[in-house]
Amino acid sequence: MRVFEVVARLRAAGCVFAEDEARVLVEAARGPEELASLTARRVAGAPLEHVVGWAEFCGLRVVVGPGVFVPRRRTGLLARLAVEGARPGGVVVDLCCGSGAVGAVVVDRVPGVELHAVDVDPVAVACARRNVGGGRVYEGDLYGPLPVSLAGRVEVLVANAPYVPTGSIGLMPPEAREFEPRVALDGGVDGLAVQRRVVAGAARWLAPGGVVLVETGAVQAAGTVEAFARGGLCAEVVSDEELSATVVVGRFGVR
Ligand SMILES: C[S@@+](CC[C@H](N)C(=O)[O-])C[C@H]1O[C@@H](n2cnc3c(N)ncnc32)[C@H](O)[C@@H]1O
Repeated sequence: MRVFEVVARLRAAGCVFAEDEARVLVEAARGPEELASLTARRVAGAPLEHVVGWAEFCGLRVVVGPGVFVPRRRTGLLARLAVEGARPGGVVVDLCCGSGAVGAVVVDRVPGVELHAVDVDPVAVACARRNVGGGRVYEGDLYGPLPVSLAGRVEVLVANAPYVPTGSIGLMPPEAREFEPRVALDGGVDGLAVQRRVVAGAARWLAPGGVVLVETGAVQAAGTVEAFARGGLCAEVVSDEELSATVVVGRFGVR
């Protein structure tokens, strides 16, 4: 299969960036047969990242296997704020870590940081373990698997929990609906169910002056701020227009 044929097939399948994607597929394939098979998977609708096994995130190449949430460009804001809040030797916890993309950026940019990441999905956990360098990755529900020795020591608690309202999942592009697990998307009736549990549980784990960072949707930000207030945290909303990203940042006892 030649490159122009790959481009033609991708274009016919509706890929907007057919040339760019063809280049990625050609680079990933170890021969013409594999190129044909990778192209067929992409044409059938699998996300490019699942087909080639990696995603570009904040300048890193992050392993993303089939069945794992593909890190989004907008989550670069969450990663940047986590890096800014972390210090060498400090403890960072990445809840709902998925591929571990956010934690991987923190480990890459903050020397000596102590990273702990958690995901409920064993497929994501296996993937994150390949991405987070010296960080620890646990399988389980939110804070459940964290070692108790971390209580009161977490300087940065970061979470990109699922925040799509259940009723909106059917409106997502097929790439997400059909190839990413429901547990990575479904945030309950208003999308904020998992976020509320993250915020409600933060007090026990945060170090004095520690920060909680939660990615959310622009229209959901007020609800996320309310969850922070209920959990006793003072919150502010940080947005990045270029990335279409929104993160709620909270601390205890700051007015
Ligand atoms: C939107 S994805 C984000 C993944 C990753 N943080 C990122 O930004 O690419 C949400 C992740 O949360 C995980 N998750 C959902 N509910 C969870 C829970 N109760 N405890 C731990 N992880 C959970 C899912 O398995 C999924 O990997």
